[in-house]
Amino acid sequence: MKKVCIVGASGKLGQYMVPQLLDRGYEIVGVCRERSVGKLDAFKGRITVIPGFTTDRAVIQKAVAGCDGVLVVLTPLGVHQYASKTAQAVLDYAPAGARLIFSCGWHITRDGQDLYSPTFLAVVKAVTWLARLVRFADLNDQVEACRRVFASDTRWTVVRGSDLEEGESQGLPVWSRHVGDPILKSNITRRVDFGLFMVAALENDALIHEAPAIVSCQTPSALASAAKI
Ligand SMILES: NC(=O)c1ccc[n+]([C@@H]2O[C@H](COP(=O)([O-])OP(=O)(O)OC[C@H]3O[C@@H](n4cnc5c(N)ncnc54)[C@H](OP(=O)(O)O)[C@@H]3O)[C@@H](O)[C@H]2O)c1
Repeated sequence: MKKVCIVGASGKLGQYMVPQLLDRGYEIVGVCRERSVGKLDAFKGRITVIPGFTTDRAVIQKAVAGCDGVLVVLTPLGVHQYASKTAQAVLDYAPAGARLIFSCGWHITRDGQDLYSPTFLAVVKAVTWLARLVRFADLNDQVEACRRVFASDTRWTVVRGSDLEEGESQGLPVWSRHVGDPILKSNITRRVDFGLFMVAALENDALIHEAPAIVSCQTPSALASAAKI
């Protein structure tokens, strides 16, 4: 059995990934804030929960020990480098050769080749400014976190989520290297399937050193793309 750690296990994405990993026979260690441990009660006895902030290096060191993979929900919350400190701790302490899968949004670009619509850029700019103003989040810190991941010599994948919605699984999302590709035009993914893509990436070596931008396989843009093949 393979062992994996979910950093940020109690969030919406984390809670989707736990049963997906259990179904696949993984042993799971989850990290979440002390106050959120109860959100994982449904999985009591089936996973190990390590309470603590994901920026706490000692917590991450303990949680990732002996893991074959680490799934990191990279959230830019607050204005104290939450995302970059979390990413750095994982990069520093994950066992050599472990698969590291990070979540983020389309706004992250790996090579500058993504083609964003003016509306998308305006929204990102406004959200970055407003979130920072009220000290809710710092999107630039998520950019910094991903810059560090891209520069690392680990076996990483950075999964870039589109807009998200709740609902039943529609299957494994499709992906492209670049936002702006017609296959991504619909810009919507079920959150449960975002989790599915992260989990599937653990066993997909073709995604090592890729930053797939994803969209649901049932969206009009994905279906139109499939029909052309
Ligand atoms: N939301 C979107 O529309 C969207 C779109 C594209 C991509 N994404 C990406 O998807 C991933 C998950 O996003 P999500 O919106 O679905 O969030 P989520 O899964 O609910 O995760 C939020 C995480 O942040 C933690 N958190 C919340 N408040 C916190 C605080 N004040 N201090 C420290 N940690 C805190 C949560 O832990 P607790 O359980 O302890 O609260 C949880 O682990 C992220 O990487 C995001 O960039 C999201």
